[in-house]
Amino acid sequence: QTLLEEAELPFLQKDLMELFASMESGAIRIRNIVRSLKTFSRLDEQGIKYSDLHTGIECCINLLTPRLKAHTNRKHDIQITRQYGDLPSVECHSDQINQVVMHLVSNAIDAIDCDASRCCSDAPQSAGHITISTYVEEEDWAVVEVMDNGPGIEESIQLKLFDPFFTTKPVGKGTGLGLSISYQIIVHQHHGHIRWEASPEAGTKFAFKIPVKLP
Ligand SMILES: Nc1ncnc2c1ncn2[C@@H]1O[C@H](COP(=O)(O)OP(=O)(O)OP(=O)(O)O)[C@@H](O)[C@H]1O
Ligand SMILES: [Mg+2]
Repeated sequence: QTLLEEAELPFLQKDLMELFASMESGAIRIRNIVRSLKTFSRLDEQGIKYSDLHTGIECCINLLTPRLKAHTNRKHDIQITRQYGDLPSVECHSDQINQVVMHLVSNAIDAIDCDASRCCSDAPQSAGHITISTYVEEEDWAVVEVMDNGPGIEESIQLKLFDPFFTTKPVGKGTGLGLSISYQIIVHQHHGHIRWEASPEAGTKFAFKIPVKLP
């Protein structure tokens, strides 16, 4: 019995250390998620105020991290590239702007996933890639672009993209509200614009711009 215990002790010790390490990384991840959720919803500072858009974008990426990982239908993790420009603080409802970024990045992930699941399983899959860029346009507009290398958007549905409840996703997956809510928030609440371009070769880019200072 003693011999057995002696033999297993080093293994137990190793297991315990691994357990503690994964508990610690789990706790750090929970702390980051709670912090992101708080920033995301701006629970403590609602209303219009000057905000750093990059902080909101980082929170969205943080919350969507589990969705970037490879899975049964997609062999590679989705890579995110940040091309952040020198943005000033922007006067906005930051909780709403965060929601728009969340909708656009979720759509980009869905597009890459949809592409991956259509690809036959032994064909080489190109890695999914999302680029988020920010810059100032005409001095007083802040622009955020979300670009993916998914399949693009078929011409037959292009006029319906912003219609409430329009979706090409399976029942239970999409409600078809993401883009119509984003339009409402950007165009009606922030006097901004949404533009997009898509092609089967290059993928899709959605961009919004809002005035740095609300009119
Ligand atoms: N990046 C993209 N690439 C390809 N198609 C897109 C992209 N973004 C949006 N679409 C198309 O626009 C449709 C409407 O998007 P929207 O975000 O409004 O709804 P949804 O994503 O289907 O559902 P929800 O956002 O409510 O979960 C999508 O179903 C999809 O066909
Ligand atoms: Mg959507």
